[in-house]
Amino acid sequence: MAWLIKGGWVVTAERVEQADLLVEGEKIVARKPGLTASAADVLDARGKYVLPGVIDAHVHYQMPIGDLWTADDFYTGTMSAACGGVTTVIDYAEPFGTGDKLEEVIERRLEEAKGKVAVDFSLHLVLLPGHEEDKKALQVAVERGLVSFKVFTTYNQRLSYAAIKKCIQASQEIGALVTVHAEDHDLIMAAREKLKADGRTSVRYHALSRPHEAEVEAVRRLIDIAKECQASLYFVHVSTAGAARLIASARREGLKVFGETCPHYLLLTDEVYAREDAPFYLMCPPLRTKEDNLKLWEILSRGYFQVVATDHCSYTPEQKLSRTSFWDTPAGVPGTETLLPLLYSYGVREGWLTLPQLVQVLSTNPARLFGLYPRKGELNPGSDADIVIFDPRKEQELSSKTLHSAAGYTPFEGYTLKGYPEATFLRGELIYYQGRFLGRPGQGRFIPGKPQI
Ligand code: URP
Ligand code: ZN
Ligand code: ZN
Repeated sequence: MAWLIKGGWVVTAERVEQADLLVEGEKIVARKPGLTASAADVLDARGKYVLPGVIDAHVHYQMPIGDLWTADDFYTGTMSAACGGVTTVIDYAEPFGTGDKLEEVIERRLEEAKGKVAVDFSLHLVLLPGHEEDKKALQVAVERGLVSFKVFTTYNQRLSYAAIKKCIQASQEIGALVTVHAEDHDLIMAAREKLKADGRTSVRYHALSRPHEAEVEAVRRLIDIAKECQASLYFVHVSTAGAARLIASARREGLKVFGETCPHYLLLTDEVYAREDAPFYLMCPPLRTKEDNLKLWEILSRGYFQVVATDHCSYTPEQKLSRTSFWDTPAGVPGTETLLPLLYSYGVREGWLTLPQLVQVLSTNPARLFGLYPRKGELNPGSDADIVIFDPRKEQELSSKTLHSAAGYTPFEGYTLKGYPEATFLRGELIYYQGRFLGRPGQGRFIPGKPQI
């Protein structure tokens, strides 16, 4: 099967240029103006942008939390991803307990995805206390293609700062990247206990229960550790201006510190927690203020954040409303399908990002950081033909009625968009076209990451 994508504006991390793309089988074979191919199907991309498939580097599908499971499994999550121009997602292989063997954790997660995934995927490996000592298992994980580890400074899975330092050192030796959910546990517990003592336990108090300082303190301590070890460190879902400033200043110093933020931290504020539907917006870290939104945009715009991902972790309205307190309402929001259109309308159109920057933060940078480049994140001959045709003139109001996640709602309901994905190709196959999913469960593949050294 061959495709000739004709006359579009091809956008890469470096530039925007008018060119045709020739796809044969699963690969891009040529990129230049004036291509012809008599045997190929032709897609007229005049007036459209042609982008490398988006990589959502932070998703949680089919994840248990207490007695609940996320609404999206590997099929519904990735089907909805495809409808938003996302061709690769990075989910998590997560041990249930410290005794779990990491090799088994990885194989179990690969098995769970098998037959279901509709786009390509990779995995981060969650480490629990003690795993930092098991260098052999970490090495085996890297050989299996899991080249990024995830640690938490809070929740039951938390590691001490000293243990995270050991993880960072062990990972540095084997070319893996440590990613971290950074919110200081002691500060969170202190805030939570005070709220509980005052009887302020509803979702209305969620933002107060996880204060800005908790994120800032954890990021500060972890940057110090990265500096001491002269090692790389990646912060997931950064929500506060304070943490963003610390990351920017560490990068100015030359440290290999990387930052990810999410559309909800760029666009929404904690004012929603005063509303009836507050649980639909409960995620960790919480939403912050308008000033934080603006600082995050500025830091992103200046290139100090490398990735925008969604932390897609979906629950239905029924699941969200099944609990009452801020600490046991299931945390997380759906987001993968709306990632690209939101970032285009509110990032590019508002002047925060250029088109090449859009491609950098949504595709090329995550591909590079997580060992998928140049197979993913690029539109060169030899790269996988993961391609999005994006119509910059298509106007759309976001509505759960036209989105595909099993969450059944979007925190961005009613947001007006100008620009929407028209078509998505996964390794040369058209899997989404003008609002319709054309792919099938199981067509996505596990893409092993390559270590950084
Ligand atoms: O609230 C969130 N973000 N849920 C998903 C798990 C995590 O912390 O990333
Ligand atoms: Zn997290
Ligand atoms: Zn997450």
